[in-house]
Amino acid sequence: MQRSPNTELLDWYGIHGRATLPWRTTRDPYRVVVSEFMLQQTQVERVVAAYQRFIDFYPTFEALASAARADIVRAWKGLGYNMRAVRLHELACAVVSQYAGAMPSGVEQLRALPGIGPYTAAAIRAFAFEIDDVAVDVNLRRVVHRLRFGLEHPPKASANEIDGAARALLPGGRAHDWNSAMMDLGATICTARVPKCMQCPVRPACAAAPHGEAEIARSAQLRLAAKRQGPQAKLPFLKTRRYVRGRILDQLRALEPGGVLRPADLVARVELTRGYSFDEIVDGMERDGLVVRDLGGIRLR
Ligand code: ADE
Repeated sequence: MQRSPNTELLDWYGIHGRATLPWRTTRDPYRVVVSEFMLQQTQVERVVAAYQRFIDFYPTFEALASAARADIVRAWKGLGYNMRAVRLHELACAVVSQYAGAMPSGVEQLRALPGIGPYTAAAIRAFAFEIDDVAVDVNLRRVVHRLRFGLEHPPKASANEIDGAARALLPGGRAHDWNSAMMDLGATICTARVPKCMQCPVRPACAAAPHGEAEIARSAQLRLAAKRQGPQAKLPFLKTRRYVRGRILDQLRALEPGGVLRPADLVARVELTRGYSFDEIVDGMERDGLVVRDLGGIRLR
């Protein structure tokens, strides 16, 4: 009799999975939340390097909530997408003020908290509370689409249908390991560009596998190309607003705590990509709660 794909998947995870990643050996909701915020846009290796240091600085929701925003943005160094540090701080303040520092586990309660979307709510439920839920990020979406619906291009299922298929697959009581296993499968075997079907534990159950690795890869390329032609065609990173904002924060982070830079000095230190107005960029960063301008100049908030 054929073994179920979940049995194969979970056995594979037991041998090849990254179960020792620091946020997988804990069920502390705070630590899970920090890891999920960090992992949203940063690769696992970089997060591993920054995560423990951050947790040592700020071990609880209370510690983070009572910290100064500028110090948190400093501790976020090396992770990029610094708005996540601001959002994480806001979330910690809300968990402390609304729930006395104890993260809730209900979907509605989680979704009502700042910075928590459907993915993060499901990830917190599965990874911190071991509640049966599916944390469907882009990688899981790709894996589930291939497994249940086949080649990705043209897509054969909507996001909702993929969510439903993921829920139908999830083995009861195993949300932590199953979501982790699916993520690891997506990161190491069922990758977007070069899937390694020959090494895949769920190949016998996979709808895409019969097409062969080359065809699956080609289909993924077509899917990516179709997405790239969408509304926001991609600028080279060095030309983005995000890049300029990152360089400004690097300069401010390098100052002593409380340190201030005059706008002229800051402009001189930041390579301003053509087409951007320095004032307008700093305005945006001020609105986002990252920096403040006062008479002395510009500093971390
Ligand atoms: N483990 C838990 N959440 C994860 C994520 N978002 N990416 C990779 N591994 C994870």
